[in-house]
Amino acid sequence: MSNTIVVGAQWGDEGKGKIVDYLTEHVDVVVRAQGGNNAGHTVIHDDVKYVLHLVPSGILWGDKLNVIGNGVVLDPIGLVEEITKLRGQGVTITPNNLLISDCAHLAMPYHKGLDKAREAARGDKKIGTTGRGIGPSYSDKVERAGLRGTALRDADALCQEVAERIALHNEFITSQGIEPVNADEVLPKLREAAIMLAPHVTNTVVALHDARKAGKDMLFEGAQGTFLDIDHGTYPFVTSSNTTTGGACTGSGISPRHIDRVVAVAKAYTTRVGSGPFTTENDAIGDMLHNMGREFGATTGRARRCGWLDMVLVHWACMVNGADELAITNLDGLDGLDTIKLCTAYKLDGKVINHPPSTIAEIERLEPVYEEHQGWKQDLSGIRNADDLPPLAKKYLARVAELAEAPVTLIGIGPSRDQTLRVC
Ligand code: IMP
Repeated sequence: MSNTIVVGAQWGDEGKGKIVDYLTEHVDVVVRAQGGNNAGHTVIHDDVKYVLHLVPSGILWGDKLNVIGNGVVLDPIGLVEEITKLRGQGVTITPNNLLISDCAHLAMPYHKGLDKAREAARGDKKIGTTGRGIGPSYSDKVERAGLRGTALRDADALCQEVAERIALHNEFITSQGIEPVNADEVLPKLREAAIMLAPHVTNTVVALHDARKAGKDMLFEGAQGTFLDIDHGTYPFVTSSNTTTGGACTGSGISPRHIDRVVAVAKAYTTRVGSGPFTTENDAIGDMLHNMGREFGATTGRARRCGWLDMVLVHWACMVNGADELAITNLDGLDGLDTIKLCTAYKLDGKVINHPPSTIAEIERLEPVYEEHQGWKQDLSGIRNADDLPPLAKKYLARVAELAEAPVTLIGIGPSRDQTLRVC
């Protein structure tokens, strides 16, 4: 038996979906334990492109159990849209292969309205959220005022409660110049979603431990990344959940004692969406990647901010997550470059430091310390064996592993499953 957590080592969008999809072949259960439909995983499976937001990517395999754990904030209307789309693509989704925790908190239409209104109220200090109501849903959870998965079992009571909350919150929402939530429009959709999802709602802690005791292998599919973690990220420019490994345990009810392996995932460069400091940001890299049609968000379509690989961040992420292995994705994104820069340290007020500072004011004053690597100037996308990578690419990866203090075991050179190379 082996249970694995996959986490992002940057600001999300590291290509975790593809790594999870690759690893899923060898597991029986795939679990989402935090975040909501702010996440967007693009997975190419048998030449078909799927975009997953809340549904664990094990759903594409047919024979896996998929669990949305208690740590997730779940938008029932969004989930039904996602399930309908996936079914339209031929994916089988039933109460037998998709379980929803009865304790997962519900992201409601008023949470989306509040998310937008609170962003508007922040003015030029806005976080750049996905607008999916994630922060307000987790706020209600911590405030002990949330609605949970169990509420989906009584659609009428849920709609009545939500109608009252919409009326309550619309005043603030409109005061910030945001469209009020239209109860007549959303309540019928919510009702329909509750009826459709109720058969999936169960005590997922029991289901997961039954699977564990039966010797099943589990994969915990992290959403977002270490630097969006509410505790360990670049606060306040973060999401509202623990995106690091601890979140997989609290968000599922599986103890750290039952976790055997942690795989951290980083791109061969860095990206970020939303606001907040980004020390290695580089517009030329961004232009190059956007011109290649890359680095547009799967959830919002926003062009991602891009920059050089920041190894101070990746090292920190490997440390706080206890990474046994590092997967480097999108290596082929660097194929055309003569010179590749790697950030190995920072200078803060003239002093060299090797860890990210805790305050935004300090992070904004950081200067990256770079070392330069010669580019391999070769199309990597057709390579199917890590041994066949050009020596300069191998050298770059060896240096990344050295700086991360974690071995690079998986390398992504394109979107398809056979473009994930295992380093033996
Ligand atoms: P929220 O999670 O929508 O509240 O957004 C908070 C911050 O996290 C914003 O900067 C978002 O752009 C960012 N964020 C949330 N989810 C993702 C993701 O899946 N990938 C990348 N950034 C994300």
